[in-house]
Amino acid sequence: MKQNFTKNLLQWFSKSHRPLPWKDTKDPYIIWLSEIILQQTRVEQGTPYFERFRAAYPTVKDLADAPEDEVMRNWEGLGYYSRARNLHFTAKHIAYELKGKFPDTFEDILTLKGVGEYTAAAIASFAYDLPHAVLDGNVYRVLSRYFGIETPIDTTPGKKQFRSLADELLDTKKPARYNQAIMDFGATHCKPKLALCSTCLLKNDCVAFAKNRVSDLPVKSKKLKKKTRYFHYLILNQGEEVWLKKRGAGDIWQNLYDFPLIEMTETQTTEELAETEAWQKILGESPIEINKISRPFLQTLTHRKIVAVFIEIAVGADFPGEEQGFVKVKRSELDVYAFPRILNDYLKDTTLELWG
Ligand code: ADE
Repeated sequence: MKQNFTKNLLQWFSKSHRPLPWKDTKDPYIIWLSEIILQQTRVEQGTPYFERFRAAYPTVKDLADAPEDEVMRNWEGLGYYSRARNLHFTAKHIAYELKGKFPDTFEDILTLKGVGEYTAAAIASFAYDLPHAVLDGNVYRVLSRYFGIETPIDTTPGKKQFRSLADELLDTKKPARYNQAIMDFGATHCKPKLALCSTCLLKNDCVAFAKNRVSDLPVKSKKLKKKTRYFHYLILNQGEEVWLKKRGAGDIWQNLYDFPLIEMTETQTTEELAETEAWQKILGESPIEINKISRPFLQTLTHRKIVAVFIEIAVGADFPGEEQGFVKVKRSELDVYAFPRILNDYLKDTTLELWG
């Protein structure tokens, strides 16, 4: 059964593999770049970003020497921004501390910031043909179904069991090809919701298919319940200019820009907000005019949902924004700043009307 698995998987791959733009190279820098972009990101979404980064930064030194704000701006919209910060940090580390030489063993690759076991195995196999099996969500799904494994994948015994099975199945003569095959098979054929079982080359030995358990596998012990956070953004306009705030450490969206923000335990009306200390602290005694209130916008993150309302406010010429660490910019130049997706959704929405 194990031999059939690897044989049939590679056969499926020779007919069905995707032409992916990072597959024409053995350059470890380019492979690392693609794998960081693809962490928690679908190929369709990540590909244009990969093309953009490869064009802007053809070598690790180009990336290392780029300004941080520019890297963040190129990353804008892809989410999980710590990936971009680690990418930049690691590029500098490789370019200067490692003198431009990309690490070439699994263990050394694993020491890079932002690189976990999965990414290290991907780079080691794709760039250097080293025999390390990848184990990601795709692999857990494919193996749990084919071998009918009911052990929850988010437990220590589950992780051990799948790790040893993945290592055993790896074609050590062709680790790059095998790893790409199992990933592509999971992503395009043995899909989470719509597994294409009727046309599957592996179905004759697939335990989940035989037992009608495909949609129940893999098993997870705990399902995440997402908490919701309620943001109220104050867009403080001063003529043609507007006040931004650079986000600090210790919360989501570190180093991105947004607007002065009041967080509450639920969405509040502007009248209620105006009663809060946070509102007083930001606006104090300044004369203001409330011009527009948006509908609630929604963004879903891994562990959180964000509901944001945007309130457009005109402030007077003596509004003390600098004292509060805000940054004044021209509205026509907002494009220069990297914002969380939900802000762009608001700024690009042309259907806005007054609301509540
Ligand atoms: N997701 C993460 N790495 C990938 C790769 N190399 N090919 C396709 N999808 C991926």
